[in-house]
Amino acid sequence: MQKNLPTLSELESEARDFAKTLAPTDGTATLITLSGELGAGKTAFTKALAKALGVEDAVTSPTFVLEKIYVLGESVPFTRLIHIDAYRLKEGKELGALGFDEAMREEKNLIILEWPEQVDDALPLPAIRIRLEPQADGSRTITYTHE
Ligand SMILES: Nc1ncnc2c1ncn2[C@@H]1O[C@H](COP(=O)(O)OP(=O)(O)OP(=O)(O)O)[C@@H](O)[C@H]1O
Ligand SMILES: [Mg+2]
Repeated sequence: MQKNLPTLSELESEARDFAKTLAPTDGTATLITLSGELGAGKTAFTKALAKALGVEDAVTSPTFVLEKIYVLGESVPFTRLIHIDAYRLKEGKELGALGFDEAMREEKNLIILEWPEQVDDALPLPAIRIRLEPQADGSRTITYTHE
């Protein structure tokens, strides 16, 4: 599915709507990958999604810390939101150090991964893949693929 999002606030509202569609699957965490060039809006999308899930802490880009974990409240079907930025990783093996495999085994985890291309060899299925593409007019095209 593909849509055009003319402004940041439309991207935020898209992320909120998307958050509402998510529910845990049996036996595995929910993995969402976010692709798109630097500044495409991957972190902006994650911030709005986190807010929709009731995260009150400031959600900042995990570019330097690689991973941030937010505990979610009882009104949400997931217990944890795990936000990973793989930009600085060079191969899938490096995800292991972040506890990725263990995190994937907990079905109440919602894992959002920026720059999945960096670690593609280690990514399990199923995943919801999201691509954000900046257009010349400043809008973003968003594409969802379910694998
Ligand atoms: N239509 C739009 N949708 C989303 N972001 C927009 C839009 N127009 C402008 N922006 C701006 O683009 C920037 C997106 O930055 P963001 O940190 O979310 O990108 P990113 O994809 O996470 O980049 P990085 O790869 O560096 O992590 C923000 O500063 C945001 O305000
Ligand atoms: Mg980012």
